[in-house]
Amino acid sequence: MAHTNHRILLADRPSGIPGPEHFQADGEPARAPGPGEILVATRYISIDPAMRSWIGAGPSYVRQVGIGEPMRAGGIAQVLESRATGFAPGDWVQGRTGWQSHPTLRGDQAQKLDLSIGSVEDWAGPLGTSALTAYFGLRDVGSLRPGDTLLISGAAGGVGQVAAQIGQIEACRVIGIAGGSEKCQYLRDTLRLDAVIDYKAEPDLQAAIHRTCPEGVDVYFDNVGGETLDAALTALRLGARVVSCGRISQAGVTEPYGVRNLGTLGGKRVRMQGFLVFDYHDRYPEARAWLAHHVRAGRLRQRLHIVEGLENAPRALAMLFNGGNNGKLVIGLEVQV
Ligand SMILES: NC(=O)c1ccc[n+]([C@@H]2O[C@H](COP(=O)([O-])OP(=O)(O)OC[C@H]3O[C@@H](n4cnc5c(N)ncnc54)[C@H](OP(=O)(O)O)[C@@H]3O)[C@@H](O)[C@H]2O)c1
Repeated sequence: MAHTNHRILLADRPSGIPGPEHFQADGEPARAPGPGEILVATRYISIDPAMRSWIGAGPSYVRQVGIGEPMRAGGIAQVLESRATGFAPGDWVQGRTGWQSHPTLRGDQAQKLDLSIGSVEDWAGPLGTSALTAYFGLRDVGSLRPGDTLLISGAAGGVGQVAAQIGQIEACRVIGIAGGSEKCQYLRDTLRLDAVIDYKAEPDLQAAIHRTCPEGVDVYFDNVGGETLDAALTALRLGARVVSCGRISQAGVTEPYGVRNLGTLGGKRVRMQGFLVFDYHDRYPEARAWLAHHVRAGRLRQRLHIVEGLENAPRALAMLFNGGNNGKLVIGLEVQV
C-alpha cells in the first residue's frame, strides 16, 4: 500500500511561545527505504520543552531546525518495510521520527523496543526519555539518599511525576510544586506525595516551602528555574544538592530573572549541577531495567497526556509553556500499516 508521509515543517522562528502560525503542514509520498533504512508508521511523538530552543533565534545546545525542515522530535513507530539488519515489518522502534507520519529512518538511528519489559505505551511513558531524565537527575546528579527531603518543581509534568515517584521508592519525603488545583490534587491523592504546593494559588512561595519542609530540603530537583529556584535556595540544608534539570519559566523571556539567593551555596556546602540526559546514553538499559521493575511492581506510573493528530502538534507544543499539559505530553497518531 502506498503511504503519504504527512509532515509538519518549521515555517518561521518564534520569538515567544511557538504556535500553529510558526509551522506548515504538507504531505509527500512515503519514501521506500534504501540500504540500511526502514520505513515506519509513527504512533507517538514526544513533545518537549527543549523544542523551543531548537526552533527559536537564541542559542541551542543542538543544531537549530532549519526553516522548511520537518520539526525534529523523538517518536515511537512500527516498521512497515525494512532494508536494515535487525529490523522486520511489525517491529516497534523508537527513533527520530520528527513530526512525520511515515518517515524513512536510518536503521542505526532507530532502536527496537524490548516489549518484554514494557508495552508500547510504557516506552512512551515510564520507560521514555522523561523518565530517564528523572532517574539520572536524581540518582547520579542529586545523589538521592533514603530519608532525604526531596522538593520538586514542575512536579506534575513528564519528568516531575517520575522524579516524585523515584523519591517515594527511595524512601524520601517528597514535596511537589505544581500549578493549579487539578495537578495538585493528582499529586496529593493519586501519587500520594507527602505535601504539595500550588504555586499559582500561593501568595508567598518561599513561606510555603519553609512551611512544608520545616527541617529543610536535601535535594531540590529544579524543572522551572527563576523565582521558584530562588525560593527553594532559601530552604536548603547543609550538604544539599540542587539538580538543575530545566528552567522552563525562563524560556523565551526577554529579561531573565536574576537569582538572588546563590549566597547560600557556600555556607551550606551545596552542590548545584546541571546535566543532559543524553550524556547517560550508555546507561539507558540500566535505567530502563530499574524503571520497568518498579512499573511491574505497581510503584511507578507515568500519566500520559495524549493529543491526537499530527496536525495538533504545534498547538500541543504551546501547552508546555502555559501549563496546559497534565503529564507527559505526546502526540498520538493512528498507525496506518
Ligand atoms: N536536563 C535534561 O536532559 C532534560 C530532559 C528533559 C526535560 N528537561 C527539562 O525538564 C523540565 C520538564 O520537562 P517536561 O518535558 O517534563 O515538561 P512538563 O513538566 O511535562 O511540562 C512543562 C510544565 O512546566 C510548567 N511551567 C510552564 N511554564 C512555567 C512557568 N513560567 N513557571 C513555572 N512552571 C511552568 C507547567 O506546569 P505547571 O502547570 O505546574 O506550571 C508545564 O506543564 C523542563 O524544564 C525541561 O526543559 C531536561
